[in-house]
Amino acid sequence: MHSNEFKLYLGELKYPNIDRSLADLKLLGEIKVENSIANIELLTTSDESYLAVKKLIEESCGTQFGALNITKKNTQVKKDMNYGHSANPNNRAKYAKNVIAVTSGKGGVGKSTVSVNIAIALAQKGYRVGILDADVYGPNIPRLTNTESERIQWNDEDKIVPAENFGIKIMSVALTTPAADTPLVWRSSVAINALIQFLEDVAWGELDFMVIDMPPGTGDVQLTIAQELPIAAAVLVTTPQTVATDDVSRAVMMFKDIHVKMAGIVENMSFFIAPDTKNRYDIFGTGGGEKIAQKYDIPFLGAIPLDMQIREASDKGEPPVARGDESVKKYYRDIVENIIKNSDFTL
Ligand SMILES: Nc1ncnc2c1ncn2[C@@H]1O[C@H](COP(=O)(O)OP(=O)(O)OP(=O)(O)O)[C@@H](O)[C@H]1O
Ligand SMILES: [Mg+2]
Repeated sequence: MHSNEFKLYLGELKYPNIDRSLADLKLLGEIKVENSIANIELLTTSDESYLAVKKLIEESCGTQFGALNITKKNTQVKKDMNYGHSANPNNRAKYAKNVIAVTSGKGGVGKSTVSVNIAIALAQKGYRVGILDADVYGPNIPRLTNTESERIQWNDEDKIVPAENFGIKIMSVALTTPAADTPLVWRSSVAINALIQFLEDVAWGELDFMVIDMPPGTGDVQLTIAQELPIAAAVLVTTPQTVATDDVSRAVMMFKDIHVKMAGIVENMSFFIAPDTKNRYDIFGTGGGEKIAQKYDIPFLGAIPLDMQIREASDKGEPPVARGDESVKKYYRDIVENIIKNSDFTL
């Protein structure tokens, strides 16, 4: 095989557990085949992803060469950003000074709840905040913000007017469907078009922060958001049970590989305080979130307990940081302070 041909072959390989190729993720550096020895340079940013990609390549074509020489080039490849250009492909939200993406490798860990409450906590500090529900298949920001019955309207400039409550602007596909619970069976290209429209055709006004509630996993939507927007801070939500699993690591590795800055990890549903006795129970053990933060050298932003008040209030569209007890508000407000402390925001 010739070098170029081999590079194309490698480019098609799928990154382990992520539906994206090595070429898409721009992980391949110089590739040379000489005298049946293949020299492959990888542009990974973490040891974990270097090892994962190395193993993938060895398993897929190790036997075809006399030797595989897979090296790692330590890079901090900059995203192709081209500010100040109207057709800028890498910043579709120029009206937002900072984009915060709330994400996790797994579903049901509390991303949406965390997104809403940190967005409101930022607004309570006086910032102009919008929240974009990027969970196009299971949108629930409208329910959490009590805007479920609203439907989108267009203004005179033909822009979509976002919903607004608790001092934040809100956009979600759930506001565009005939009923809030209309099932969405979309191809991923359609879902992505809808998201791009929400970034470009919504009258967000000037925002200090755009908070994005990401869908679970590490798929197309996550990558699109990372490619179309300069994310200033990715906030990774996990629960103590999922800390030990591969999902968290996968999400961390994906963000490192696509060069998104991680603000840190939030451990949600962390411990339980019995309402009657006030005793604390560490149902799922302690310190998991901190351990994973240490392992990947990213900040630990705080722990939020498993609390009935949080669930009940959220289900009623009364975000705990706006309507809850002081003790509950403090969890989210402290996390916001830590996010600000650990990020390089433009304010
Ligand atoms: N700290 C908490 N204590 C109690 N319940 C919580 C807490 N955080 C979230 N919940 C509840 O857990 C459920 C899942 O939360 P949420 O919808 O925010 O998760 P998610 O990660 O966004 O889920 P999905 O992956 O489906 O988008 C909700 O019913 C929510 O009210
Ligand atoms: Mg969600």
